[in-house]
Amino acid sequence: MRPAGWKLLAMLALVLVVMVWYSISREDSFYFPIPEKKEPCFQGEAERKASKLFGNYSRDQPIFLQMKDYFWVKTPSAYELPYGTKGSEDLLLRVLAITSYSIPESIQSLKCRRCVVVGNGHRLRNSSLGDAINKYDVVIRLNNAPVAGYEGDVGSKTTMRLFYPESAHFNPKVENNPDTLLVLVAFKAMDFHWIETILSDKKRVRKGFWKQPPLIWDVNPRQVRILNPFFMEIAADKLLNLPMKQPRKIKQKPTTGLLAITLALHLCDLVHIAGFGYPDAHNRKQTIHYYEQITLKSMAGSGHNVSQEALAIKRMLEIGAVKNLTFF
Ligand SMILES: *[C@@H]1O[C@H](CO)[C@@H](O)[C@H](O)[C@H]1NC(C)=O
Ligand SMILES: *[C@@H]1O[C@H](CO)[C@@H](O)[C@H](O)[C@H]1NC(C)=O
Ligand SMILES: *[C@@H]1O[C@H](CO)[C@@H](O)[C@H](O)[C@H]1NC(C)=O
Ligand SMILES: *[C@@H]1O[C@H](CO)[C@@H](O)[C@H](O)[C@H]1NC(C)=O
Repeated sequence: MRPAGWKLLAMLALVLVVMVWYSISREDSFYFPIPEKKEPCFQGEAERKASKLFGNYSRDQPIFLQMKDYFWVKTPSAYELPYGTKGSEDLLLRVLAITSYSIPESIQSLKCRRCVVVGNGHRLRNSSLGDAINKYDVVIRLNNAPVAGYEGDVGSKTTMRLFYPESAHFNPKVENNPDTLLVLVAFKAMDFHWIETILSDKKRVRKGFWKQPPLIWDVNPRQVRILNPFFMEIAADKLLNLPMKQPRKIKQKPTTGLLAITLALHLCDLVHIAGFGYPDAHNRKQTIHYYEQITLKSMAGSGHNVSQEALAIKRMLEIGAVKNLTFF
């Protein structure tokens, strides 16, 4: 062979080596096959798709409220609760002093975050989705939804549980994992007051709630987070087109479920939902939750418009911002 021929051959060999090395370095599973196939996850995908709904909403917003935003530089909030913290700053400060705001390192360090929001819907019954749900990096649950006894259908992993005082009737130790974050969704200033009294064992308050919240609630304050009301604001404004400046009594507000999806679209790269959806309005006998025998009647006067929320979720499904694990 002439020298030029050898040169060409050497070049080809080099290209081949680089290609093989590249494919190995890209694909961790080349040497260590992962037995369970996970959903492909693309960094930033949820954000990209959700921007069609939320527009250019600020990704700089912290997920959880933190002391420094209130103590040193008083972050002015345009709205009162549940859309902002205007007027509740003093109560909030006392809560932030005893709770925390960090996102766990196990989530922070992920290149791509696969999340599932588990709604409380009846469709989860006998769904056998437990194993599938447990495989997500982040599992978000709502209110008093039980896990114990329902593991096969709803899984046992709980990364975050969103709740408000009146929905906190669950045993934090039994229905959560030791590292579950308990995320308070505040609707009114009294909600901050409640969490403060319960965490620092002060005199309990009984008035000012539409249902008696727990008086004893055994949780580690370091596991408690305060959700940034910004998510309530964009869920109400961008998903439900609700007026932000409402008369004193809020007429309509997003459900914790819709709020959780909004939060997930901000926190995660891939968002799946399970157990969302309510029966048709005329279906009066159908139970709505997987764990209790209540019907749509119990939703009357709750300030939630479930048909409007269904439309909002359908829209998110259509544009591919979220995917459903159960039939909606
Ligand atoms: C969003 O922001 C980007 C860059 O700041 C801008 O180019 C784009 O036009 C904005 N989109 C909308 C819908 O406002
Ligand atoms: C779930 O499965 C159990 C046992 O197979 C059955 O008795 C029950 O009726 C099912 N429940 C629903 C809601 O389908
Ligand atoms: C709920 O939303 C639907 C769809 O947007 C609307 O037609 C209906 O009037 C709303 N119901 C109430 C009670 O506001
Ligand atoms: C998700 O919902 C669509 C309808 O919106 C339905 O066709 C599909 O079967 C559902 N997916 C699953 C896995 O249930």
